[in-house]
Amino acid sequence: MRMILFGPPGAGKGTQAARLLERFQVAHLSTGDMLRAAVKAGSELGQAAEGYMKRGELVPDQLVCDLVVERLGQPDCEKGFMLDGFPRTVPQAEALDQTLVRAGIALELVLVLEVPDALIVERITGRRSDPQTGAIYHLKFNPPPAEVADRVVQRADDTEEACRTRLAKYHAETTPVLPFYDAKGIVKRVDGVGTPDEVTARVIAAIA
Ligand code: AP5
Repeated sequence: MRMILFGPPGAGKGTQAARLLERFQVAHLSTGDMLRAAVKAGSELGQAAEGYMKRGELVPDQLVCDLVVERLGQPDCEKGFMLDGFPRTVPQAEALDQTLVRAGIALELVLVLEVPDALIVERITGRRSDPQTGAIYHLKFNPPPAEVADRVVQRADDTEEACRTRLAKYHAETTPVLPFYDAKGIVKRVDGVGTPDEVTARVIAAIA
């Protein structure tokens, strides 16, 4: 399976990716996770990306494209991959296309999780994650169990202000990517509103 998980910030891409990976043994390429790891490591890339991420802006295309192209060349991607949070701009989609054409492989699916803006701010500001396992929780919709509740953390970009910037960037710069894939006939749209289990059932049906 070679697919893109697409959708606005807080749509549930990370939540659904974790569930799909239990079922499909493919590489998970989350540019958000990769960039956060770079920030934590204090690498050159992390230092360059940190300010953009905190403000909810997009990291420059060249930095993200280099990261993804390098990652796609690693052996575990040969069995398939799930891109999560990439591409986010038309130039990123073009760079991905060129990389895949050079490698002689084709994308099979762009799965769009649709969630209205009105729900996004509540999902994002209530998100917490477990730094030890990476598990994603929500204070209201999916509260962390008692044994991890003391150690969950909030992402630096999960403020209401950064969330509104991220949403604006999504509408202005990321949704224009979709016609590129619509023209290839590989886009499926899934309603991302409902419980995580309900959404997973829709996603699995769309993949099938
Ligand atoms: P990234 O980490 O990719 O963030 P995002 O796309 O904004 O997505 P999120 O991780 O916020 O949300 P999600 O859709 O995974 O939702 P989740 O499952 O956690 O990117 C972060 C930053 O990195 C960007 O702003 C940018 O600066 C930079 N960056 C990354 N990629 C880049 C690129 N390609 N180009 C340039 N810059 C890039 O769910 C959210 C919450 O809702 C959780 O609390 C969860 O428990 C809850 N929830 C999930 N599903 C449900 C449900 N069905 N019902 C109720 N609650 C739910």
